[in-house]
Amino acid sequence: MLKEIKENWRDLFATAPQTLDRVKAVDTAVTAFNVNVDAVLKISGQRLSELVKSAGMSLAELQDIRQAKLLESQDVLKGIFKCFSAGIAEEWLTEDKVIYNWMIEHLGYDRLQMGGQGGIVANVLGIIGVKKVIAHTNSHPKEQAEQFLKLDNIVSFDENGREKPSYQINRSQDTPLIHWIIEFDKGDKAVIDGQTFTCPKSNRFIATYDPLNLKLVMDQHFVAATNSIKADYVVLSGMHALTANNNGVALVEKVLPIINAWHKYGAIVHLEIASTQDIEVRKAILQKLATNCDSTGINERELIDILEVVGEEKLARQCQENCHAENLFRALLKVKEILKTPRIQLHFFGLYLTVQNKSFRITPEQNRNGMILASTIAAGKAGTGDINHKENLLWALGKDVSDVGLEELKTISDIIEDENLLKTGISQYAGFDIIAVPTILVEKPKTLVGMGDTISSISLIGAR
Ligand code: GLC
Repeated sequence: MLKEIKENWRDLFATAPQTLDRVKAVDTAVTAFNVNVDAVLKISGQRLSELVKSAGMSLAELQDIRQAKLLESQDVLKGIFKCFSAGIAEEWLTEDKVIYNWMIEHLGYDRLQMGGQGGIVANVLGIIGVKKVIAHTNSHPKEQAEQFLKLDNIVSFDENGREKPSYQINRSQDTPLIHWIIEFDKGDKAVIDGQTFTCPKSNRFIATYDPLNLKLVMDQHFVAATNSIKADYVVLSGMHALTANNNGVALVEKVLPIINAWHKYGAIVHLEIASTQDIEVRKAILQKLATNCDSTGINERELIDILEVVGEEKLARQCQENCHAENLFRALLKVKEILKTPRIQLHFFGLYLTVQNKSFRITPEQNRNGMILASTIAAGKAGTGDINHKENLLWALGKDVSDVGLEELKTISDIIEDENLLKTGISQYAGFDIIAVPTILVEKPKTLVGMGDTISSISLIGAR
């Protein structure tokens, strides 16, 4: 049975090139707000041990963590060590230039790449062929410009408010906002004070210097320009690093009139929720922004985070214990009911799942096409390491969807008692349209950073 279903999906996925071609018909997409430079660095256990030694830190000092923040340069080493020894991912922030300079001098980096949801999505939409992508940047020196693809269809504003291709801008007075993505490998060992620590899982620690995005500083040229034109789509993110004691809730509220202005000209506004640690800010994003956007994108972790702040702790726990289709589907329907955002898309291991109002402007078939394109391109990104070149976009064309994905899809189609969902990815339930697409799995992905942003934005803008 599964074989027949797989063949069905093979035929459906064969339409990806035509869908990609249709993206050229999209006139304007806007991306906002967070754009930064990611400095990617692979750190070995040995180098970590040396850095700790030369900082003169003992094991006790290294493990003495009071706050998940970078208040002095030693905190950088505390964060790396914590994530390395537990195999976990965390992001700690600083606004202190002294720590930034310390990281430049003592850590260095292997390569620079585009960072931040806004920046990553701008490059994605540019390369898939949207006619014009207007990217917000609050800092745009040469180092930032260099992370934009050399494409004339991605534009931002120079210091005089003139629109230019983003890669050509150099606002030389701006300080580059650099986030260190410090990666480490499973099995690597660090020796501290004679004690050996083995890294249990490959992961990353992000040490972020970002005085502007942490305050949601906006380029007013961008706001004025995009609020007075008709954009087809806006992909919004970048509020997730705000904190309540840094005025975060008020900053979130400041975005609402900007969303309303985009809406006035008919844009479909999509919010990428992202992992938001501060509970007050998370609530504000949900209550003030998600409810006023047309579409949102989340992964399973973010779905659980939402459940936790809307009074659904029990469901959150169930999802945490068993993070598979059955619980996630129930959770997604619950969140849809509470937020009332017209379209919500969840992506998790093996499957993309969209629940939307029947009256929504994008049809279920269009959604499915977009999600198939997203699944294909995401696999291309994982398999080749980047989608900075057009050739890589359809790298995965012809590969089968994953068995895990089909199993998860079958679970949902059993719940709603409609085999059509399993065969075609389209059904209806609880008064909503349900669209589900299994993913193509890549055994050893060359990269994972920015995957969620890529999936959400292509699913929506490729929905044609
Ligand atoms: C976070 C990080 C940024 C990274 C992005 C990837 O926003 O701060 O550096 O590029 O996540 O999604």
